[in-house]
Amino acid sequence: MAQKRSIPYSMFDRESYGLAAKNAKILERVYHKGHAQGWDGKEVLSSLIAEHGTPTMNETQKQALGRVFSIILWGELAAWRISAELADEIEPLEPKMAATSQAFDESRHFYVMHDYLEALGVRPNAIHWGARRLLEKVMNADHLAKKLLGMQLMVEPVALTLFHIVKGLNVEPVLTHLLPYYERDESRHVALGVQYLPAMMSKMSVTERLSLFAFQFELLSYEIATNFWLMRDLSVLGVDPRALIEVGKAKQIKAMEAVLESLDVTASYPTVILDRYADAVTELTLPASSNAGNLWNRLKSVTDIIRHGRPSAVDHELVPTITDEMTPLATGDRMRRAA
Ligand SMILES: [Fe+2]
Ligand SMILES: [Fe+2]
Repeated sequence: MAQKRSIPYSMFDRESYGLAAKNAKILERVYHKGHAQGWDGKEVLSSLIAEHGTPTMNETQKQALGRVFSIILWGELAAWRISAELADEIEPLEPKMAATSQAFDESRHFYVMHDYLEALGVRPNAIHWGARRLLEKVMNADHLAKKLLGMQLMVEPVALTLFHIVKGLNVEPVLTHLLPYYERDESRHVALGVQYLPAMMSKMSVTERLSLFAFQFELLSYEIATNFWLMRDLSVLGVDPRALIEVGKAKQIKAMEAVLESLDVTASYPTVILDRYADAVTELTLPASSNAGNLWNRLKSVTDIIRHGRPSAVDHELVPTITDEMTPLATGDRMRRAA
């Protein structure tokens, strides 16, 4: 039976939710930026098609892109549902506003990606079990913090990485010019995770925090499995699967470090353990080229990573810098320029 609703009179008392004033301020801005950086999906896609022509590519590339971006499409739907749920269930005002704005963004991401794939002649199909498990795990998580961490800080950073790489490779011009609009929105969504998760975690018991930590391991494993399965398709598109997982993971770790810093947690072992685990599994499944043919060297590298970490870890900014010039059709930017 649905939970009985009552008026949350305490929603303005952010301290009682563990929400710091500076985090609340940023979350409030996330909502208003959603308006200022808004874009009309129908208009943007049709303008890009008018400028660059109907999206087209050879059949092999089309199939590969279809499989990779079907995951993005269903990921957008999962993000839509989760943000709508967060908007409903989060009580304090500012994060509630930010989640509400995200739900609106994700609905646009979903229909625009659907329309783009349709224009390309790709029908979104069933996705790899790893990606499906990942999205369903987050959607069905037993705690709101797991949904926030799973979607905003684990799935979105990997999507941001993929967008950034695919855009850089200019696989298809309409997609290349469409992705900055997605990237700018997704950056705001990552901010919701970074700014609100500390408040949620400050109210969690030790058992709940440990369960959240274990949940991260599980999600990471599904991400690496999906990346491994997509290896061939990514290569067809010119994307290096190892770079994708390494940069994606570097962003996730950066997000977690920001959350722990907000919580005044000085211990680095939670991120170190996650980092080494991800690096070790990546080395096993997608070995560095020097270890590709030699199982013994590969196992030795894995052992070294577990014991000492990787000597040269990948570092990457958490969210990309997207300028107004990269999103010339954004309605908010246009109004600002006209003014
Ligand atoms: Fe999205
Ligand atoms: Fe998002």
